[in-house]
Amino acid sequence: MIPAADYQRRRRALLHRIGATGLAILPAAHATTRNRDVQHPFRQHSDFSYLTGFPEPDALAVLIPKRKEGEFVLFCQPRDPEREQWDGSRCGIEGAMTHFGADQAHPLSEIDTILPTLIDGKTQLYFPIGNDSLFDQRVFFWVNQVRDKVRTGAVAPNTFIHLDSILHEQRLHKTKAEIALMRRAAQISAQAHCHVMRCCKPGMTELALETEFHHTCANAGARFNAYPTIVGGGKNACILHYTANSALLHDGDLVLIDAGCELQDYASDITRTFPVNGRFTPAQRELYLLVLRAQLAAIDCAQPGKRWNEPHDAAVRVLTKGLIRLGILSGKVNTLIKEEAYKPYYMHRTGHWLGMDVHDVGAYKQDGEWRILEPGMVLTIEPGLYLPNTDAVPEPYRQLGIRIEDDILITKHGNEMLSAAVPKHPDAIEALMTNHSLRTAP
Ligand code: GLY
Ligand code: MN
Ligand code: MN
Repeated sequence: MIPAADYQRRRRALLHRIGATGLAILPAAHATTRNRDVQHPFRQHSDFSYLTGFPEPDALAVLIPKRKEGEFVLFCQPRDPEREQWDGSRCGIEGAMTHFGADQAHPLSEIDTILPTLIDGKTQLYFPIGNDSLFDQRVFFWVNQVRDKVRTGAVAPNTFIHLDSILHEQRLHKTKAEIALMRRAAQISAQAHCHVMRCCKPGMTELALETEFHHTCANAGARFNAYPTIVGGGKNACILHYTANSALLHDGDLVLIDAGCELQDYASDITRTFPVNGRFTPAQRELYLLVLRAQLAAIDCAQPGKRWNEPHDAAVRVLTKGLIRLGILSGKVNTLIKEEAYKPYYMHRTGHWLGMDVHDVGAYKQDGEWRILEPGMVLTIEPGLYLPNTDAVPEPYRQLGIRIEDDILITKHGNEMLSAAVPKHPDAIEALMTNHSLRTAP
């Protein structure tokens, strides 16, 4: 749980960055329709959740540095017993102030009257520019209300700044409470991955493994996934965003499962690849160990002071050397890396920031250079190999897809693997899949 004081600290830091001449406006997410009368489960926009913790749709937060009457104003739905009978309780205007730290709160119906008066006098307006064209239009409607009054002494903003540029840098550096939540999310997902390994057997469907994963996470308190679960058996593992999860799992195949729960709006993102029947074939083990070596080399580079690209470069080097050894590539390692000869077999990057969004926010480059890793940043390390059914690939390796993904916190002296509780060495995977009560012996 994120303490109220943390939300206050986040807002204070943003208010400080905005400065006395600025003002920030941030919208909540909207509820979205799935089909006809059915809505998607509501998920608050991560930026809004980060700054307010307010869980309802359509709200609007305004941050106004140095305003005497209060620096944090929230517009939200007022209480409405009739609507609440149908849709569940609302926090309401009073609740926004008492439970979410708003200095003032107003009903959404009053935005068009009140917001222009808050904007008046500020020369810089920060908001998420260009994310939602309807919201952009509303912002300029409010600004134009102020412009219309300049002859009476009103001052309208003349500078518009993308709020993401400062807010996302804040989100990139995780606090103690955020790290605790992410550690727990990763532990729950790790437990679910172990469960899936234990119960997997030939003849099950990919969907059955997906279900086992979600059941374990939900029972541990994490109802939602951070992203759609990927369960790819056999050649389906070579499709990077395979989510059909509809095929049967065959004896002798590998299965790749990329799944992570979300806990209180914080994501985990873990991939494991293991044999459906609990035993790697020699070719599967050989290729798997290559990906594992690449992952370990990359994790070694996930240290404070290293640059963002170093883990990726380390993984690419190990994979390229391995592809030469397997006879899939030929030539000099450095030339092959320069020519990106590995790309037909390893076509994605080695990781991404992880946080409230699975592909979390924060710049990867600063001043034209890959940024330096710092304590408190969380990233994934997820190299893979996806070998097609072509003559370039020796027969036993064809259509094998392998990815190994862990969640890594950069610490003062190195890193902490948040997802360490799920095994990844082939011997450890085989041991887990053998010593359990859920699968019958082969
Ligand atoms: N599961 C999304 C990713 O690994 O990036
Ligand atoms: Mn990932
Ligand atoms: Mn993933």
